[in-house]
Parts: sequence; structure tokens; C-alpha cells
Amino acid sequence: MKGKALSSVPFFDNRITRLTGIDIPILNAPMGGVATPELVAAVAEAGGLGLVPGSIGSKAATTFIRVMRERTNRPFGANIPVSFSEASIVDTLVEQRVRFVTTSTGPVPAFVPRLQQEGIAVFHVVTSLETARRAADAGVDGLIVEGSEGGGLRGAQEVPMMVLLPLVASHIDLPVIAAGGISDGRSMAAAFALGAEGVQMGTRMVASLEAGVHENLKNAIVAAAETESIMINRHHQRPIRVLRTATTEKYLDAAAGDAFKEIMYDTLRLYSDGDMESGFASVGQVAGRIDGMLPVAEIIRRTVEEFGQAVAALARNHLNRQS
Ligand SMILES: Cc1cc2nc3c(=O)[nH]c(=O)nc-3n(C[C@H](O)[C@H](O)[C@H](O)COP(=O)(O)O)c2cc1C
Repeated sequence: MKGKALSSVPFFDNRITRLTGIDIPILNAPMGGVATPELVAAVAEAGGLGLVPGSIGSKAATTFIRVMRERTNRPFGANIPVSFSEASIVDTLVEQRVRFVTTSTGPVPAFVPRLQQEGIAVFHVVTSLETARRAADAGVDGLIVEGSEGGGLRGAQEVPMMVLLPLVASHIDLPVIAAGGISDGRSMAAAFALGAEGVQMGTRMVASLEAGVHENLKNAIVAAAETESIMINRHHQRPIRVLRTATTEKYLDAAAGDAFKEIMYDTLRLYSDGDMESGFASVGQVAGRIDGMLPVAEIIRRTVEEFGQAVAALARNHLNRQS
């Protein structure tokens, strides 16, 4: 696509594409058990930045990366969700010569300078202006800004993308990737208008052909209304946004136990057998906008095309050129 920008199909050139060597600044969320090598390789092959989920452990990540390299020559990265990861994942990613790493689930970890010395760019996941400032002070190369509408573990303070993204972008001069509520070109264009230079898709990618979960979950996302994604576990300082089921709605209650401790591992049965009452399915509010299961390449192709149309239509439909 390089150098051949059509009117509605943009050619991206910004800090994210230059830093990572990708063509299209779209990332898959690094979802353990969901983002399979097939899914992550499909993102990379489509021109996006595939992220390997570090939560699967060092041994599994090594195999994952080997399969990725058999499937694609294009760049990809990895995520280290610090509070759910083995310490050895850092050595594994260095040994495997991964060039881009995101760190999440807490403050900037002490191993970040080591990754950077190895030539790895590190982006940290933030959920407030305060956590973004702390990450910038710790010297990370960029930020993943996560809005509270997104699926999965959320920040203790719940700030939606519409407020958080322009706030962070206007105060901190680092490249920003937006995560939360992005499923198509219109939402990607909105994120870019708010200051992002890339987007990360979670829920949209769960409902993809390549996602490693049972069809019941993919179909549930396609069928879900925007109101069926609920924030549970708030009372244990680890809110998590999930699909409403009889099992998960119990954890709305302040008196309920910690969903991470009680039901997290049951989620594996939900993924493999499609038992929707096992564990919790991390699903964002954007499920309400997802109306079909698609191959990853098609999600990215449609998003890029619609992004170009959306950006062009804004000026065409709303600006008066006569004045
Ligand atoms: C099933 C699932 C698993 C996730 N696992 C991780 C993870 O291991 N590490 C991480 O940084 N974020 C994880 N996330 C959060 C995503 O990276 C991202 O912030 C979120 O999905 C974006 O919102 P969206 O679901 O509206 O696209 C997960 C999200 C989902 C839906």
C-alpha cells in the first residue's frame, strides 16, 4: 500500500508506524487464550501490529513466537501483564528478539530500562492522567490509554475514552495508542481526533474467526447490547468489565468475593466448551456495535477503509469552504 494512497484508503505515517515498522496502526489486544498465533499472525500479515499475550507464560510464549515466525515475516510485539506474569517472561522476550512490548496491570515495572537497553520500545498501559504522568516520568516510549468502556481489567478510577484520551494527549508528549470501545473506522477516526496515533482492539477481535474461543462467546458478543457489559469486582479495587451472565452479575454486589480469586480459572472452560456460566468473559461495551463475526484481515481492511471515509466526510460535511 505504501505510496499508493487512494482517496478512501489512507497511507499511515506517524510515530507508531515509524517506531514499529508497521503499515497500519491497529493492534490486537493481548488476550491470553483468545489471541492465538493464528490471530496475532493475521494482524501482522494485514499490516497491523500483532501482540503476543505474555500472560500465557514463558514456555508457551516461546512456542507461540516460533509459530508466529513460521506464519509471518512482519513485525510483532508482546504484552507483559505484570501482576499475571512469570518473571522469566522478560528474559524470554529479550531472547526471542521481540522489538515492541506493552506493560500493564500496575505501575511501570522496574525491568523497563533493561528492555529499552536491549533496543525494545516499551509502551505502558494507563487509565488516568496521574498514571500517565508517572509512566512518562519513568521513561517509557509511549502509552496505551485505556478507557473504562473497554473489556477486561480496568483502572481503579473509571474514566471513559472521550475524556481520558484528549486529557493525556494534551499533557504528555508521547505517542498514544487508544484501547477501549474501538471496533471500526469511525471509532478509530474518533480516537485519532482525540490524540491517538494507534488503536488497540479487544472485544472486536474476540468476535473474529481466528480467536481461540468457543463460538458461543463469539455469538454472545454479536448478540449483546451495549448495556450487557458490566463492571464487576469494583469492591476489590480490581474492576473488570465482563459480559453480564447469572454468574457474573453476582459480583456487582459489594458483599461478593473477589471474582479473580473465585472464578478466573473457570473462564478456561467458557473459552473451550462454551459454557457461558463458567468464569467471566471479558467484553467491552462496544459489543453493542459488533454485529458479525469476521476474519481478522477483513476487520482491519474494513476499519482502514472506513477510517479514510470518516476523516474525509468530516471536512466535506461540516466545514463551510465559502467563508
Ligand atoms: C478477553 C480479554 C482479555 C484481555 N487481556 C489483557 C491482557 O492480558 N493484558 C492487557 O494489557 N490487556 C488485556 N485486555 C484489555 C485489552 O488490552 C484492551 O484494553 C481492551 O480490550 C480494549 O477495549 P475493547 O474491548 O473495547 O476493545 C483484555 C481484554 C479482553 C477483552
